[in-house]
Amino acid sequence: MSSESTPVTMDKIVSLCARRGFIFPSGDIYGGINGFWDYGPLGVELKNNLKALWWQRVVRERDDVVGIDSAIITHPRTWEASGHTENFSDPMVDCRSCKKRFRADQLQDAGACDSREGSSEHDFTEPRNFNLMLQTQIGASEDASLVAHLRPETCQPIFTDFKRVRETARQKIPFGIAQIGKAFRNEITPRNFTFRSREFEQAEMEFFVHPSEREQWFAHWQAERVNFHLALGFASESLRTRAHADDELAHYAKIAEDVEFLFPFDWQEIEGIHDRGDWDLSAHTEYSGKELSVTDPETKESFVPMVIETSMGVDRTCLALLVSAYDEEDLGDGDSRTVMRFSPLIAPVKLAVLPLSKKLAEPAREVARNLRRDWNCSYDESGNIGRRYRRQDEIGTPWCVTYDFDSEEDGKVTVRDRDSMEQERVAVGDLANLFRERMETAR
Ligand code: GAP
Repeated sequence: MSSESTPVTMDKIVSLCARRGFIFPSGDIYGGINGFWDYGPLGVELKNNLKALWWQRVVRERDDVVGIDSAIITHPRTWEASGHTENFSDPMVDCRSCKKRFRADQLQDAGACDSREGSSEHDFTEPRNFNLMLQTQIGASEDASLVAHLRPETCQPIFTDFKRVRETARQKIPFGIAQIGKAFRNEITPRNFTFRSREFEQAEMEFFVHPSEREQWFAHWQAERVNFHLALGFASESLRTRAHADDELAHYAKIAEDVEFLFPFDWQEIEGIHDRGDWDLSAHTEYSGKELSVTDPETKESFVPMVIETSMGVDRTCLALLVSAYDEEDLGDGDSRTVMRFSPLIAPVKLAVLPLSKKLAEPAREVARNLRRDWNCSYDESGNIGRRYRRQDEIGTPWCVTYDFDSEEDGKVTVRDRDSMEQERVAVGDLANLFRERMETAR
């Protein structure tokens, strides 16, 4: 949303995130660790709001999708069956001189070699496939049979739990299973802030359908997911879908379409919608020996359900929300402000109560206490009121409530709108209803 004259750059986003405590390098005091990020007090609120909205729309508002929360480490056979042990790799090369490792398809970004005498060219090895799963050891023994992997996608436990969840939740085809959680990939070149990380979160939903209905359900979920992103407040011109060409398809996918966002560095995927066919259920049947087909209760037909998957990157969508919200507004007379124009639905802080003077702290705190029953409401009494408004603008708080000396007399406060900066007097007793209505309008 940044104005034309001051386009948003990744440097501005990274700097605001560090300055205001949205997102910063993990282990920062030790110099950080490439590909790992920590979410601070505002970042965790933003992320939690996004996840809660996704869960609300995908699980709670439907009676044909149920949720799970599975272990991050699952049985090692899972990844053999899913094809990740064999196929989940990127071709990489090493430089024999500086020992750095690069993706073979991204050598144009390798930069200069700083270890060779008489040349700044890297001395590359032949490309080799590098498996992206992060490995760990279970138990104290060094026995190789106890090697396990952190899940590289959250969906596989949905497939291994499919039978139990279908039976216990008494679901019939078509229905879906959803999960939000951490995934891990040993990316060779993490980059673009949180965009390509080694630890990240996915919000995935696997929808199990009869083979004759896969096309219609793919279209259904494609439309649902685009609508979801539009409801987050993304401008339609910064969002598009792009179908994968045959040579781009992941090993499990029959058809795939990405939801892409226009980041400062390019159009890039924030969510994938995939027709995975019966790849996963058939593979897990073969590797586990457990039958995962279903029988239609009416026709008695037995079949392996086809799977339509929606897979949203939570961190990438958060990053897109930060980029999309960022604005530097020229206020005239050499004045300007940085304002994060988050939709009230996902804004980390919804309201801020600001007493005009510290002498009004007690009644103002009482107003904040009441609003906190329903919303994340901050309280700030330090600095002049203009500076306090700017602080709230910069973190995207949609409304500020100012308690002044007249409030003591008339029982009213000033509500200031973040975007228009307009102010109105509202009775303290009407605040909850006003914000409830405004929140509802934002839905
Ligand atoms: N289960 C299907 C699956 O994992 P994917 O396209 O590999 O499909 C889905 O990943 C989403 O997960 C992507 O659209 C992206 O938003 C997110 N994602 C994947 N790799 C990521 C990474 N290294 N860092 C951050 N997010 C990532």
